[in-house]
Amino acid sequence: MNLDEIYQHIWSSIRVGASPTRSPFTMWQLATLGLDGSPQIRSIVLRGADENARLLSFHADRRSAKIKEIEADPRVSMVSLDLENYAQLRVSGVAVLSQEQTDIQRLWTEAKPHTLILYQAPLAPATAIDSPEQGQVQQASETSGFENFALIQIRVSKIEYLDITPGNHQRALFSYVGGRWAEQWIAP
Ligand SMILES: Cc1cc2nc3c(=O)[nH]c(=O)nc-3n(C[C@H](O)[C@H](O)[C@H](O)COP(=O)(O)O)c2cc1C
Repeated sequence: MNLDEIYQHIWSSIRVGASPTRSPFTMWQLATLGLDGSPQIRSIVLRGADENARLLSFHADRRSAKIKEIEADPRVSMVSLDLENYAQLRVSGVAVLSQEQTDIQRLWTEAKPHTLILYQAPLAPATAIDSPEQGQVQQASETSGFENFALIQIRVSKIEYLDITPGNHQRALFSYVGGRWAEQWIAP
């Protein structure tokens, strides 16, 4: 593949990752800057990918630490891996909490019940509890959980592709500068 083909391949892999079917790029690790400046990382499920808008999106609990971190400093990095194909994608950009109420409401309506139940948890994520039972969501919850449901969008400014297929290592950098994507091979 040439650089243009790799760029297309990246976005098509990301789109599949964001679709409801499970694929190598469904799960990502998202890094933020902790409030004390230390790196923070966690797994997230990719929920949306819009190449033209350069947006990736995921759902999160509004009460979680990552939201406060993004509000304090919106710079984020993400990484994901296709182990079968020796391929890694690293992305960096700026995250925002979507204010598009219509989109958020639609995603909420479309989400699976086992996803939604997480947002009904009465205790904020990371609250200290005496036993796991204390953290379970009661079946007949009073709240829908919608008030805790957030859509985070990441405006991507850099994508790095690495393929370490034996005998054919390739690494390429795509940077969004001056309104266009610049492409560059870099040493693996
Ligand atoms: C399989 C799996 C999928 C997950 N998906 C998400 C997700 O889409 N969004 C999210 O906020 N947390 C998700 N989590 C939980 C996060 O990894 C993390 O533990 C949690 O959000 C708290 O992170 P924080 O304290 O840094 O905000 C997932 C965890 C696992 C194991």
